Amino acid sequence: MSKFEPKTPVKLDPPKDDALTLDQIAQCDGERNKCMWIAIKGTVFDVTNNTNAYGVGKGYHVFVGKDASRALGKSSLKPEDVDPKVSWDYSTLNEKEMKTLNDWYTFFSKRYNIIGRVADLPKKLD
Ligand code: HEM
Repeated sequence: MSKFEPKTPVKLDPPKDDALTLDQIAQCDGERNKCMWIAIKGTVFDVTNNTNAYGVGKGYHVFVGKDASRALGKSSLKPEDVDPKVSWDYSTLNEKEMKTLNDWYTFFSKRYNIIGRVADLPKKLD
């Protein structure tokens, strides 16, 4: 399947399954520390190398240091959707938004290393 294939091939490491807390993930926001992590549906991706998109002051920096599922699914950059208190919660998304979210998951999984999973999502989601 060629869908969402990066233009230039990306060599990915084997996915890791480390248990990471939302607090740990918040430390990797490109501000407190250089590392930049974004979780989608509880899977944590390392986007540190893409400062063009995710660096401090860049348009998509709002997704960094959190599980950004809600905002990605809703194609939203709004503060209320990227607020880490709720940004992990995609249970509010409709069917079309869930499709968008799953497409982003595929997009990220073809570009960024998986470094772990969110260990302490406040609510169990499927
Ligand atoms: C006027 C509206 C927008 C424009 C013109 C725009 C434009 C772009 C462009 C040119 C790229 C790079 C594509 C590539 O690397 O091939 C991109 C990537 C991306 N966009 Fe947007 N975008 C817009 C709105 C949004 C919104 C509302 C979201 C919220 C979810 C969003 C999320 C993203 C994400 C997550 C990426 C992937 C960055 C990466 O990891 O490479 N965009 N956008």
